[in-house]
Amino acid sequence: MANYCTDRYGAGMTGRHIKIFATGGTIAGKAGSATSREYIPGQIGVDELLAEVARLGLPATLVGTQFASIGSEDIGPALWHKLHDAVSAAMADDACQGIIITHGTDTAEETAFLFDQTLPTAKPVILVGAMRPADAVGSDGMRNFANAVRAAGDADTAGRGVLLVMSDDIFAARDARKARTEGLNAFRGFPRGPVGHVTPASIEWFGPPWRVDETARLEFPQELPKVSILYAYAGMPGGDVKDAVRGGAKGLVLAGFGQGNAPAAVREALAQAVQAGVPVVRASRVDQGLVDREPDDDDNGFIAARALGPAKSRILLQLLLANGITDPLRQQEAFDRR
Ligand code: SIN
Repeated sequence: MANYCTDRYGAGMTGRHIKIFATGGTIAGKAGSATSREYIPGQIGVDELLAEVARLGLPATLVGTQFASIGSEDIGPALWHKLHDAVSAAMADDACQGIIITHGTDTAEETAFLFDQTLPTAKPVILVGAMRPADAVGSDGMRNFANAVRAAGDADTAGRGVLLVMSDDIFAARDARKARTEGLNAFRGFPRGPVGHVTPASIEWFGPPWRVDETARLEFPQELPKVSILYAYAGMPGGDVKDAVRGGAKGLVLAGFGQGNAPAAVREALAQAVQAGVPVVRASRVDQGLVDREPDDDDNGFIAARALGPAKSRILLQLLLANGITDPLRQQEAFDRR
């Protein structure tokens, strides 16, 4: 007779081969004292992490590579490229069935989104971090990691793009955003909430995969153009836009008020930037900011960021430009896609 729990929760995991790429962050952080507020991210190597994980007896074979030992504020194009090459190689390896990247939480959403746009969806790629260092009281690292192993090993994970696992929630890269600086429930999904729930013992998806067998949406070329984010503030002058263009920006993202608004002088300067061949994305500085197209966007040639925040909008515009996609309608389509 079928065992529901084994069939539903256990079968997909057995003996799965999962590749771990460690980059540092709080999940590898140490405070040296259970009561210290200060800690140093990226202190625990992947071997130490996997030795600890081995004690949990998870039904998966894990192979680790230490990529970096940094706080994620220091991640950027050089490491992204190296990591992207390694993840692509793991995806092409028949012996590897899932990939986990341990990552600091500060920029995890950017790495997740960049890889989400530039990798095929055939195998699970999961980012995981922690809010408390490994030696803190109530550290969340081991649980989050065990959850990531469960998610990377599940037969139903592929076809959802890159995912981020934090505090028993699974977020799609496009939706994931760090919404709190303290506490374990630091991440939120917007506009969708979590797409699944995971524990070391179980996984529950809230819907079917929506990107089955997709190829990479965009290439990740060596050189990305400079795209600047302009954070709107009361009294902001149009000169800020001109300074950014003079400084070499090939694209601009407005982190605007509310639904992507800005003072009249800034709008005018942004419209002039578009005329000069510098595309402009209107995003919102509001955490749960949805920026839809408005009639002015057609007149000014602006792109609406929809639910993407400024940092992800910047990455997407860089990728579009680097892939030679300069038509505003095609650029808008990329921002509209789920
Ligand atoms: C970091 O992003 O590396 C530090 C913060 C964290 O991992 O939570």
